[in-house]
Amino acid sequence: MTITTCIFDAYGTLFDVNAAARMAAEEPDFAYLADAWPKLAADWRAKQLEYSWLRTIAGRHIDFWQVTQDSLDWAMDAADLHDGKLRARLLAIYKALPAFPEVTGVLKSLKDRGLTVAILSNGSPAMLQAAVRSAEIGQYIDDVLSVEEVQVYKPHIRVYDMVTDLFDVTQDKVMFVSSNGWDAAGAAAYGFATVWVNRSYAPPDRLFAAPHRIVHDLTAITEFV
Ligand code: LAC
Repeated sequence: MTITTCIFDAYGTLFDVNAAARMAAEEPDFAYLADAWPKLAADWRAKQLEYSWLRTIAGRHIDFWQVTQDSLDWAMDAADLHDGKLRARLLAIYKALPAFPEVTGVLKSLKDRGLTVAILSNGSPAMLQAAVRSAEIGQYIDDVLSVEEVQVYKPHIRVYDMVTDLFDVTQDKVMFVSSNGWDAAGAAAYGFATVWVNRSYAPPDRLFAAPHRIVHDLTAITEFV
């Protein structure tokens, strides 16, 4: 089936979530993070996802910016870091995370081929708008879909429904691209032609369905459409 619509996850797939802690650690004020930043970044991300899933299970949704702050507070506590200036700096960088190096070229190439290109993310509309603007990729993106519209987080089916509803396409015409194995599993189970961008060479998740393709960055995906 011909793919007409390419949907991208945002955090970890287009935007480098580890960059906040890594970039802060390069600044003189936070040089003390030189060894600690990888664990801080990993704890922050793991807790952010855990909180998103727990809030959906509990039916107690709160937007992803709040989840991002709550999880950072947990991660800083776990690392015994009590530095308000660091907290503010990490959040400021998170609002303007860099895109991975290949992102702009790949999005442009998909647009040049006439495909519909969109983001489907847990991020709040304000977070996503800021990230797209700072990465200067807005011209290659037709729509930015946020879970705020459905008030549940991925991998809830209602999130993937947003794509088929908005673009009026069947699942098999959608290529869904995510670096999160569990998101790729949700999308594959939903029926999207799914690409898992396994940037960290992680083992495959044993979940609802296997992704159709596995790559390690985005460059190869233009060959799949
Ligand atoms: C997102 C998270 C899962 O952007 O990375 O939806």
